[in-house]
Amino acid sequence: MLGAVGNGWCILGLVPQSISILPATPADIPDLAALRGGGTQLEQTMLGYLQGSYSPRFAEKDRAVFVARLDDDFAGYAAGHRTTRFGCDGELQWLNVAEKHRGIGVSDALIQRMLEWFRALKINRVCVSVDPENQIARRVYKRHGAAEMDPYWLVWSDLCLTGL
Ligand SMILES: CC(C)(COP(=O)(O)OP(=O)(O)OC[C@H]1O[C@@H](n2cnc3c(N)ncnc32)[C@H](O)[C@@H]1OP(=O)(O)O)[C@@H](O)C(=O)NCCC(=O)NCCS
Repeated sequence: MLGAVGNGWCILGLVPQSISILPATPADIPDLAALRGGGTQLEQTMLGYLQGSYSPRFAEKDRAVFVARLDDDFAGYAAGHRTTRFGCDGELQWLNVAEKHRGIGVSDALIQRMLEWFRALKINRVCVSVDPENQIARRVYKRHGAAEMDPYWLVWSDLCLTGL
């Protein structure tokens, strides 16, 4: 169960820590890339995504990257952008939670923040690519209102109809 605590979030009854969700800065890039294997090339790609000089296929200019911190510890991140892919107007590009912080709902706080960002830009149809074998991620996204589009993609068909 999640409850608001100041600017952050607390998993009530599970951990006495607050989860803060903040916009990513270039200084966060090594932490972000490390969760995906790291390396200079990946760091450059992720920095380019953050700063707008690299765009995935079909991506448009608007994008956001949010970082989760548990107390002061880097816990994960989510990223998304405006797109024209599949008739969607948004795509959730990345969601990663550090292994030691999994299973306590960090992804809930990150997804909620991303969905808020999409809604604020009137982006209502949002797709996300998920490996068919990745049952954990599929359950997480479905819990937040996404549905199967095909074996590799889930979609929020209308964020206006998906509760906050
Ligand atoms: C998918 C992911 C973002 C979920 O993050 P999370 O913050 O752990 O999400 P939750 O706390 O809701 O936990 C989700 C599930 O993971 C399970 N889990 C996985 N590893 C765990 C661990 N080390 N400790 C505790 N629980 C774990 C939980 O039990 C929970 O199971 P449930 O679906 O039956 O409730 C995270 O597992 C991750 O970063 N995976 C690798 C990257 C990835 O797959 N990203 C999505 C790509 S589309």
